[in-house]
Amino acid sequence: MELALYHPQYGYYVRPVENPAQERIGWSGDFYTSSDVHPILGRALAKQAQQLDAYLGHPDPFTVVEMGPGKGLLARDFLTACRNAPANLSERLRYILIERSASMRALQHHHLAPWIGRAGHVAWLDRLEDLPPASVTGLFFSNELVDAFPVHRLAVINGRPQEIYVDAHDNGFTEIHRPLSDDLAAYLREGNISLPDGYRTEINLTALQWMKQVAQAMARGLVMTIDYGHTAEDLYGPERKNGTFLCYYSQTTSEDAYERVGEQDMTAHVDFTALARTGQQAGLDVTGFTNQMSFLIGLGAEQFLESLEPESAEFYAAIHLLRPEGMGRTFKVLVQHKGMDKPELDGLKFKPFFGSILNTSGASSVNRHTPADASRTTLHDSQVCHG
Ligand SMILES: C[S@@+](CC[C@H](N)C(=O)[O-])C[C@H]1O[C@@H](n2cnc3c(N)ncnc32)[C@H](O)[C@@H]1O
Repeated sequence: MELALYHPQYGYYVRPVENPAQERIGWSGDFYTSSDVHPILGRALAKQAQQLDAYLGHPDPFTVVEMGPGKGLLARDFLTACRNAPANLSERLRYILIERSASMRALQHHHLAPWIGRAGHVAWLDRLEDLPPASVTGLFFSNELVDAFPVHRLAVINGRPQEIYVDAHDNGFTEIHRPLSDDLAAYLREGNISLPDGYRTEINLTALQWMKQVAQAMARGLVMTIDYGHTAEDLYGPERKNGTFLCYYSQTTSEDAYERVGEQDMTAHVDFTALARTGQQAGLDVTGFTNQMSFLIGLGAEQFLESLEPESAEFYAAIHLLRPEGMGRTFKVLVQHKGMDKPELDGLKFKPFFGSILNTSGASSVNRHTPADASRTTLHDSQVCHG
C-alpha cells in the first residue's frame, strides 16, 4: 500500500497528472471529498479556529497546519473565510501545508495562488518531521489524511491472528500469512481487541506514530482529525468481519488491491479510539468526539442553509455533507487539546455519542462477535466519496 500510493515514480498520489481531466480527486476523478462538494466544511473550520484564537488570547502568529491537503480546496475555503475574521486574524495567520507528494503540491499552489507571496501567510513542508517540536500555537488539522496511511492487513486463521504479507513476482502478487509482529500484537492487546476465526481486518500503525509526532509539534491549541472511521469497538466488531479496506477508481469501489496498482486509491477506516489513546499518552487530551453533521450544525450550518434558496443546487450540495445516512455520520471529528484548559467549542456543542465512547483505557473487551455477523455494506452510488 505504501508503494502503490507513494512510490516516488509510480505511486497513486505521486505520479504527475498530465491533464486536469485525469485528476484523482474530484467529480471527474476516482472519488470526491467534502471540499469538492461545498465550502461549508472549510468555513466551519475557520469559525472554529476563530473561537480557538480567542481562547489562546490572539497569539501572533496564529499557526494553522493542514496535513495532506489534497488539491488545496479546504485551505482555499478556510483562508477565504478568515478574510474578515475578528482581531485581525488574517494578519496574524500563518498557514502551513504538509504534503509529501510534489504533484499534489503543484495543485495546491494552483488553488492557493491568491495567497502565495503574501508575507508569512502560506508555506509548505514536505514532511511532518520538518515541523520543529512545540512550534504550533493554533490549530493542526487534517481531512482524510489518516485513511490514506498504509495499513497492515490481518486474517484470523485457526483462531490465531496472522499478518498478510504480499509477495511480488513476474505473474503478479501472492498473499502470504505470517505470525503477527510485536507491534501488531501490542495493538490488539492494548485495545483489548479479540477477533474470531475467519475475521479479516486492518491495523494502521503509521497513524499511531503520526499522532505522537503531532503531539510533539504542538505547543498550545487544538488538533482536529476529520476522517471516516469508528471507535475500536465498532471498527473491530461483528459488522466489519471483512475489514474496511477499499480501493477507489473512476467513481467505483473495489476490494481488489492487486489490480490497477498505482492507478487506484486505497483506504481503510480509522480507529479513533487508538488515536485518542496514543494522543493521550503523548500529551494530547481529548476535547471531544463527534460526527461531521453535528460539527457543522454546531458551527452554524443550519443558519447558513436557511440563507439559501431551498431548491437551489448550492442548498443540495451543502446538505450532502450533513446527510445522516451519508457523509454526515460516516465522517467523524476527533478534537484534542494541549497547553490549554479544555475549551467549550461550538463544533462540539451537539453530542451524537454518549459518555466517553472512545474508552481509551481499553477497559472493556472489543468483542461483540456473535454467529449472526452481518457482512459489510458496499457503496452503490454512481459517484463515490471516500468512506
Ligand atoms: C485522500 S487525500 C485527502 C485530500 C484533502 N485533505 C481533501 O480533503 O480533499 C490524502 C492526501 O494526503 C497526502 N498524504 C498522505 N500521506 C501523507 C504524509 N505522510 N505526509 C503528507 N501528506 C500526506 C496525500 O498525498 C493526499 O494529498
